[in-house]
Amino acid sequence: MKKLINIAVLVSGGGTNLQALIDFSADGNLTSGRLVKVISSNSDAYALTRAKESYIDSAVVERKGKTQQEFESAIIKELEECDAEVIVLAGFMCILSKDFTDRYKDRIINVHPSLIPSFCGQGYYGLKVHEKALEYGVKVTGATVHFVNEIPDGGKIIMQKAVSVKEGDTPKKLQKRVMEQAEWKILPMAVEKVCKSICKGE
Ligand code: GAR
Repeated sequence: MKKLINIAVLVSGGGTNLQALIDFSADGNLTSGRLVKVISSNSDAYALTRAKESYIDSAVVERKGKTQQEFESAIIKELEECDAEVIVLAGFMCILSKDFTDRYKDRIINVHPSLIPSFCGQGYYGLKVHEKALEYGVKVTGATVHFVNEIPDGGKIIMQKAVSVKEGDTPKKLQKRVMEQAEWKILPMAVEKVCKSICKGE
């Protein structure tokens, strides 16, 4: 039987990118991996409901009240319990240390809602990214899927997709277009690509 890469998805909020991965898998397109666990940094995240509805194991590791080391140890425990080989950050709003990113070198994938290196790094997350893009006046933005290293949004780029900014855009309108036209498409494709190359031993 073909080996499938165990994928854990780290989330903090709504989980629409998680949903895109679930749908991609349900459509039979995730041929080299399987979603084994969803780990949320927030117990109220709607992403947890999405996991439950799709019968995917989930766990909550709250960021609040823990040191960085305690937080990461608790995540590692969850990852080891499900033998996760690839970790997807899908709207995960916590920074990971170099110790963590080194431990899973070339195994952590993040989706960011801009064309890196624009509007990225510390402080650029969620709606803020689109606010900054509109403030600057760019006419094209998009999304990037990249490997995660110790530099926020600084790892090697796996895939990008451009999206047009339109007259009258608000941050929310732009966020929706970037999600629909870019994030939900390239994140699942990039995850499949990485899992496939791990399977091939590349
Ligand atoms: C997405 O737009 C994702 O790219 C962004 O937060 C949103 C989460 O939505 N992530 C970052 O900004 C990380 N730097 P979701 O929970 O519905 O997937």
